[in-house]
Amino acid sequence: MGREPSNANSTSTNDLLITGAAQLLTLRGKIPRRGHSLSELAIIKDGALLVSGGRISAVGTRQQIEARKDAKRAERLALGGRVVLPGFVDSHTHLIHAATRAEEFELKIRGTSYEEIAKRGGGILSSVKRVRAATADTLKTRARAALEEFTSCGTTTVEAKSGYGLNLASELKILRLHQELQHEQPLDIVSTFLGAHVVPSEYRHKARGTEEYISLLLETILPEVSSEKLAQFCDVFCDRGAFSRAQSERILTEGQAHGLAPRLHGEQLSHTGATQLAVQLGAASCDHLEHVTDEDICALAKSDTVATLLPGCDFHLGWRKYAPARKLIESGAIVALATDYNPGTSPTVSMPMVLSLACSELRMSPGEAISAATANAAFSLKRDSTVGSLEIGKQADLAVFEVEDYREIPYYFGMQRCWMTIKRGEIIYVRD
Ligand code: NIG
Ligand code: FE
Repeated sequence: MGREPSNANSTSTNDLLITGAAQLLTLRGKIPRRGHSLSELAIIKDGALLVSGGRISAVGTRQQIEARKDAKRAERLALGGRVVLPGFVDSHTHLIHAATRAEEFELKIRGTSYEEIAKRGGGILSSVKRVRAATADTLKTRARAALEEFTSCGTTTVEAKSGYGLNLASELKILRLHQELQHEQPLDIVSTFLGAHVVPSEYRHKARGTEEYISLLLETILPEVSSEKLAQFCDVFCDRGAFSRAQSERILTEGQAHGLAPRLHGEQLSHTGATQLAVQLGAASCDHLEHVTDEDICALAKSDTVATLLPGCDFHLGWRKYAPARKLIESGAIVALATDYNPGTSPTVSMPMVLSLACSELRMSPGEAISAATANAAFSLKRDSTVGSLEIGKQADLAVFEVEDYREIPYYFGMQRCWMTIKRGEIIYVRD
């Protein structure tokens, strides 16, 4: 087994034999993972994979796979004894935005709260201003660069939300970019319409401004998003200073009527009942959850709504309040992890960093964190039949880490240990 990759065929039309996985984390087994099963990674020592047409055609030990007839004709890629796992599925990002908000970062450090900054017209509204003013080309260039960074961290599927446009033209500008980027670069992009992120400034000082904005969303923007097939999901920020539970219900129900499955931002800044609404609507996920109650946890545990935890936000904002991951896992809720990449609360594309936070702050084990960032995240995006585990028929989406043991993936933090990323059998990143 050489240390360098052999000459893998990048067209993915020929069969590819991948060997040299000291630990091959297959995540084979029932998805979603709940309770004890969250830590089951189904590891094969000295593992190998056979890939055909970008999909996995065989998984096993090197000995088993090399003995196959079809393996003999295949091109070879030797990974040199590294740790291999399914590419990360980042199930919550705000991919398209125009600029950082580093000036707010400094204000927050000096003591101004996130909500206070938002009340002064900063926060989400300042990102909206910049997205509206930016050309699609500028936004695309920035998003492309971010996608390359996601790739270098081992991520192979990215959910992307609109929500910094908040009028017809700019929401469509963002969602059309999701579609264009899907065709122009290798990562899978799962598009979510988040027109109900906050009420934009032009509606804020009117007597019935929120109602008017919701009418714009439901009568004008949503039908257009749906008829152009620009999004698979509809999201709402159901929280203090954004949308109430009743307003969120109206928006998500109308989204469902237009074929968009619901997901929510909820219980981040305050408790609003977003979790109960998510469960009631059969939402794909309810994300953040810093303020969930025991009753909410119980409801999640009985449902298929994924509890997506975003510890990058609490870390960046310097909040000491993380979501109760242990309680959620032990009660049987489906837990996923994501970056929430955005310029206000979580400027990171790094799933390995999120895993480190999940272990150190959420007290998740390395195995639990890995399942939450792959198999369960794929389930929350309704993509678990194609990504999130390394099983026959699924896409050959792999992250290869320069470590000896999978626990070192979250153990290191702020360090680049991702060595190679493979999407549908093609190498899309290799560390120099
Ligand atoms: O997920 N909570 C709402 N939305 C984002 C923050 C967006 C921003 O501050 O720009 C989040 O944390
Ligand atoms: Fe978010």
